Amino acid sequence: MANKTRGMSDTSPATSTAEPFGLRVPRHVAIIMDGNGRWAQRQGLARSAGHKAGARAVRKVVTRARERGLDCLTLYAFSAQNWGRPHEEVEQLMALLVEFCEQEHDLLMDKNIRFRVIGERSRLPSDARMAAELLEDATRNNSAMQLIIALSYGGREEIAFAARAIAAEVAAGRMTPEEVTAETISAHLWTHDVPDPDLVIRTSGELRVSNFLLWQIAYAEFYIDPCCWPDFDEASFDRALQDYGLRDRRFGGLSASDEEPR
Ligand code: FPP
Repeated sequence: MANKTRGMSDTSPATSTAEPFGLRVPRHVAIIMDGNGRWAQRQGLARSAGHKAGARAVRKVVTRARERGLDCLTLYAFSAQNWGRPHEEVEQLMALLVEFCEQEHDLLMDKNIRFRVIGERSRLPSDARMAAELLEDATRNNSAMQLIIALSYGGREEIAFAARAIAAEVAAGRMTPEEVTAETISAHLWTHDVPDPDLVIRTSGELRVSNFLLWQIAYAEFYIDPCCWPDFDEASFDRALQDYGLRDRRFGGLSASDEEPR
């Protein structure tokens, strides 16, 4: 899987791959969708217009990710810290989520994409939680790609959640402290059944991780796009994939060309 290749200029559906371009496609891409507010401000619009335009960009990128044959796309839509934003903005983001879940149902079914939410879902307002869970249920058996939306999500919060679950198992005598390994922690995260992201994209030029998938991005490649999220489109996504395809991933080891001749 890690070595599967797809053509970057192939615009055909993911069912027909274009091997000749020979670029490695990431299995899992995670995106920090930043810059909605600045995009709106620059055009003299309210921040809400930026978020709305951001939701349109989500649709484009989900479609392109599926065409390129990714297994998984994770989008950071609302952080655990975003609850601190003005009430009106939070309400608007939750309303956009409900709208997204209702409007994208057909697209996700048509493209065979499974929808999932990670994060502290109990903190979501009931209509947002219900809309998300309905879409999770409807798409449960879809298998071509997973679309994971991080909502009320924080990487530290997720690691603390895993630590509590592991501590409970140790306290119950089902595991000894010595048996707790890095794999144990991965297995207790909300992302326990998806591969770690190969590529993290952040828009708006900011160089921060912002509490996103802190454990899972240990060996991820980073790609920063200077554009604000509403301007990120299919071509931007392809450029990120192309850039990733040329990276030399070593995971702490050596690349083949660095190894001593035998
Ligand atoms: C960051 O930009 C973006 C967010 C906090 C929200 C992201 C939400 C969307 C893209 C739309 C809804 C998504 C779905 C899946 C329905 P910012 O507001 O922090 O921008 P700024 O840094 O320029 O102020």
